[in-house]
Amino acid sequence: MTTRAPEDAYTAEPFVPEGARGLPTLRRAAADCRGCPLHRDATQTVFGAGTAHARVMLVGEQPGDQEDRQGKPFVGPAGKLLDRALAEAGIDPGEAYVTNAVKHFKFTQAEPRKRRIHKAPTLREMTACGPWLAAELAVVEPELIVILGATAGKALLGSSFRVGEARGALLEREVHGRPEKLVATVHPSSVLRARDDADRKAAYEGLVSDLKVAARALS
Ligand code: URA
Ligand code: SF4
Repeated sequence: MTTRAPEDAYTAEPFVPEGARGLPTLRRAAADCRGCPLHRDATQTVFGAGTAHARVMLVGEQPGDQEDRQGKPFVGPAGKLLDRALAEAGIDPGEAYVTNAVKHFKFTQAEPRKRRIHKAPTLREMTACGPWLAAELAVVEPELIVILGATAGKALLGSSFRVGEARGALLEREVHGRPEKLVATVHPSSVLRARDDADRKAAYEGLVSDLKVAARALS
């Protein structure tokens, strides 16, 4: 007899409330999710933030160190850069619903008290967490989804998604059984990781240019 569920049984599904659901109900339920092992080492579930009436939903990868501590998405350095890029593109960050494909912080740590280093979630973890994203989409029903990077793209459009191929164009695809409009761009963290100032500037301008496509789709 095994004492642990097989890895491919990882899923948030049993934790997602059925029937009439609003964001507060979902957020409360997600706080207790044990759908995959990522809840064990993280501080807390970082559920999406923003109004249920948002016209645009931004989807990132997973919470980072700051998000894990504060319990809110995109409040660290990547979030600051994203807010600046959104404002420059003409999207009011206050009118957006912001969330992540995976809702617990995954990291490695050389020793206790050392810096926690972000680790990319596996496809299995993204799939496990998918029911939360589907539930958020069903409640918010955004007019447009902005995909921030490869993880969000794979979570929403499947594992063959490539951000380099998809970015900067208005896409119309079926997501969790509903027709959606989407615009993909790079993850804001990739701008922060650029090698030098020239690369960073080019990456940032690329991000803003993709977000302008999103802004036009919303106008
Ligand atoms: N990166 C993400 O993808 N999401 C966050 O919430 C923060 C950083
Ligand atoms: Fe649940 Fe997602 Fe956290 Fe895994 S990462 S425990 S599926 S909320």
